[in-house]
Amino acid sequence: MQKPKYHVFVCTSSRINGQQKGYCFSKDSVSIVQAFMEEIESRDLSSDVMITNTGCFGICSQGPIVVVYPEGVWYKEVSVDDVAEIVESHFENGNPVERLIIK
Ligand code: FES
Repeated sequence: MQKPKYHVFVCTSSRINGQQKGYCFSKDSVSIVQAFMEEIESRDLSSDVMITNTGCFGICSQGPIVVVYPEGVWYKEVSVDDVAEIVESHFENGNPVERLIIK
C-alpha cells in the first residue's frame, strides 16, 4: 500500500475499552466517517485519502472534530453536510475549508 496524500482523523469518541461514548459520538460522528468513506470512494480518491476514526482530541465542545494531515488542519463542528465540500475543496483542490478551521 502506498502512503496516502491525506490522512483524515474523525473523532468518534472511541475509548480504549472499545466503547464509543462522548460528545462527537453523540453528534453522529460515525455518520461523518461513513460519509467521508462514500465520498472518497465515489470520487475515486481511495489511494490518496485515508480515513481513520479516533478517540477524543480534548476539545469536545467544538466537536465533531476532524483533523487532516500532513497540514495539521483541525476542523470543528463538522457535519455530514460539510463532507462533500471538504473532500472537493481540500482533497481535490488543495484548499482547506476556512469557515470550519480551528484557528
Ligand atoms: S469526544 Fe471528540 S474531541 Fe472529545
